[in-house]
Amino acid sequence: MSLYQEITALEKEALAALGAVESIAGLEEIKNRYTGKKGALTGILKGLKDLSDADKRTLGKQAHSLSTLLEESIASRRRELENREMQNRLLAERFDALRPLRSLSGHLHPLSRIQYEIEDLFTSMGFLIMDGPEVETDANNFTHLNFSADHPARDMQDTFWTTDGFLLRTHTSPVQVRAMQKLKPPFRIIAPGRVYRYEEIDASHEHTFFQVEGMMVDEDISVAHLIHIMKSFLSQLFDREVAVRLRPGYFPFVEPGFELDFSCLICNGQGCRVCKQSGWVESGGSGLVHPEVLRAGGIDPDRFSGFAFGFGLNRLAMMKYGIEDIRHFMQGNLRFLEQF
Ligand code: PHE
Repeated sequence: MSLYQEITALEKEALAALGAVESIAGLEEIKNRYTGKKGALTGILKGLKDLSDADKRTLGKQAHSLSTLLEESIASRRRELENREMQNRLLAERFDALRPLRSLSGHLHPLSRIQYEIEDLFTSMGFLIMDGPEVETDANNFTHLNFSADHPARDMQDTFWTTDGFLLRTHTSPVQVRAMQKLKPPFRIIAPGRVYRYEEIDASHEHTFFQVEGMMVDEDISVAHLIHIMKSFLSQLFDREVAVRLRPGYFPFVEPGFELDFSCLICNGQGCRVCKQSGWVESGGSGLVHPEVLRAGGIDPDRFSGFAFGFGLNRLAMMKYGIEDIRHFMQGNLRFLEQF
């Protein structure tokens, strides 16, 4: 085989190998085989110096142009392979942040569950959902709610104070104050949220618990409105006809003020251990908004009146799901939580 035929055959063979190679590693191997230190073409180029001048010219040209051709072909094949490798990697590592999780094993905490349910119920009755901070001012938690500075009722709720004069809200009622500052009557809001009290804990008392506050202000709001909304709220929440009972109760920010009870769901009002044989369960405080509170909120008490209520969410969840001890809620015990 003449050198000319050798080079021509080498060209054919090398280009075929380049066309067939599928990996960068394979490409390196081909590059080595033809143009590496011990490569076939390198050998030919090295031998050129021993040829006659005429052969040097023709065969030298042929060999050098093959060298250039191979260099370019290898480079372009390398780009192709690198692109393809990148494509494959992108496809393999594709991360779709919006893809729905197939086996979502988490679920809502019972308090979140009841909170969302209550939000839906009140939203359907035209209430807005409001929010307030857990670290509050004395003014919002007490003063604007008609607790004077030396009011003995401040001691009704044992308070956690911060070192710089703020407090952890002892109830969700400060959101009433915020609602009046923000909204013009008529309005109706609820405000679910976490509250804190410096309390001894037992099966029915926690230092950290949840309430849902409600407030409705309009012309001519009366106790009848309060009873109606409470009855339909509780009946929907518990999926059955619930009776509601008001007993006199004292809170500085309502007048008249009531403790609101509903018929025990465990025994249907017959009397059982949970309701201490009374047939009734306490759900929280309520009443007509005190004129001083309306005034402090910039609302004219001669024109408007309102009702307010504040229920313990834990208590409602305990009734709804049959939980016997309030301490379960905050313990993070999966064996408890996984039941919901
Ligand atoms: N904030 C009161 C409490 O936590 C409950 C309440 C709210 C009473 C609204 C009357 C009106 O005890």
